Amino acid sequence: MSLKEIPIFKGTKIQPYYKNLNQYIILAVLGITSLILLYRIYQEQQLRNKEFTIMTVIDILKDKYLSLFIILGVVAGATWFILKLLRLKVIDLANMIETQGFIQRVTTTKQTEYLKLEMKHDEYRYYPTIFYKTRGKDFILHVKKDGSRFQKHYLELETIIEPMFDCELKEKRHIGRYVKYVFRPLKYKKRLIMDEKTLNKHDVEDMYNIQITNDVIWNYVKSPHALVSGVTGGGKTYFLFYMIRELVKRKAEVRLLDPKNSDLSFMSKVLGSDKVADTKGKILGQLRQAEEEMEERYAFMKSSDKYKIGKDFRIFDLPPYFVIFDEITAFTSVLDKKEFQEMNDRLTNIIMKGRQAGVFMFLTAQRPDADVIKGSVRDQLGLRVSLGNLSSEGYRMVYGQTDKEFMPVSKDDLGRGYLLIQGQHIDPVMFEAPLMEQYDFEKDVEQILVQNQLDDPECRTIII
Ligand SMILES: Nc1ncnc2c1ncn2[C@@H]1O[C@H](COP(=O)(O)OP(=O)(O)OP(=O)(O)O)[C@@H](O)[C@H]1O
Ligand SMILES: [Mg+2]
Repeated sequence: MSLKEIPIFKGTKIQPYYKNLNQYIILAVLGITSLILLYRIYQEQQLRNKEFTIMTVIDILKDKYLSLFIILGVVAGATWFILKLLRLKVIDLANMIETQGFIQRVTTTKQTEYLKLEMKHDEYRYYPTIFYKTRGKDFILHVKKDGSRFQKHYLELETIIEPMFDCELKEKRHIGRYVKYVFRPLKYKKRLIMDEKTLNKHDVEDMYNIQITNDVIWNYVKSPHALVSGVTGGGKTYFLFYMIRELVKRKAEVRLLDPKNSDLSFMSKVLGSDKVADTKGKILGQLRQAEEEMEERYAFMKSSDKYKIGKDFRIFDLPPYFVIFDEITAFTSVLDKKEFQEMNDRLTNIIMKGRQAGVFMFLTAQRPDADVIKGSVRDQLGLRVSLGNLSSEGYRMVYGQTDKEFMPVSKDDLGRGYLLIQGQHIDPVMFEAPLMEQYDFEKDVEQILVQNQLDDPECRTIII
């Protein structure tokens, strides 16, 4: 733990009285307004050389009760409205502490001496230590692990906070006696929009990083291979379209396997029929080729002078080689036992060994079948995505055991779901795939391929 991480300034400590903070603020504003009015009266009295006493003030105000009432009412109303707009999180946090019962309180009743009025007084024997502060778009909570019987709830506070503030946990860390939570409101999670303008934007900022949303970037070398799952119509194939475009832009070798012979097969006229497989034989052939490519790359790298332990395909100028397999589980139903075994072996081999050689698998499945994507294989998939609503079993198959409370996704939210990048997220985070409503994928990929050919030094020589 570095010195910088020791939470010296943890922000505002949540106090029991914060639950009535709105009322206190309104009272304070009314108090200040009254003082300003009194000061005005005082100034006027001074100008007129008249005295300023309680009786004179009452006298002056006698005729102006109605206007005074209206002024204070408007001020109180405006303050209330502003507070509603601001929705101070400290107030909601203080209320949450009370309603969740993270307190021990005794209420005593006292009688006032003269008027014999009963006064209730709350005394807190226990109140949690929670600090709140903001940082840019995020807000941060530091919660003290105080050993109380509520402590186990403090360790999983995101399950309460996320739905409460419509936000998402970005970071959770144990720092000394505190748990630090960083949350980001979902309204800041902007999706990428693909439209006519993107058609002409083909520059690659980073070869190995692919932007998925404004704040999620997938490094396919650090977190290799991917699985996209979701019900029919969830947006799996559209997400693949986006990925194919990004990969073609990066001059990757892309192979498309489309056992449903539907959404990706049309790409054979754009990419070439040798790169797209839609029959059982061709699909098994492509898997074999990918495995051979991987083995050949290993042999080539090891025989090279540049080879050093731990180095990967990037230092050998080899392009990434992506096998994009749409609806892998649909494919397994047409295989006999031997073919199934063959497919499984090749898949597992590439997923386990492919990264260093730059050979990657990108799978989609309506339902990730445990026979095809075993737990041990799934754990090796660096990017895991679910689109639309999955059953709790479906979520478990994609993400493994998780405490995440998945919020329902409406049918109208095209391409919305969850995503987890190994090494970047502890739990799945909500995301929206790039929106492609007004976007011609085929035309864009064709243009990128033409551009790639022009960039090719051999091709340029011929043109010159
Ligand atoms: N990111 C997106 N942008 C725009 N439209 C989308 C997006 N994702 C999905 N859609 C819309 O939803 C429809 C279904 O999406 P898609 O074909 O990708 O689903 P799928 O998950 O592949 O379904 P299936 O399992 O049946 O193949 C698309 O035809 C498109 O109209
Ligand atoms: Mg599909």
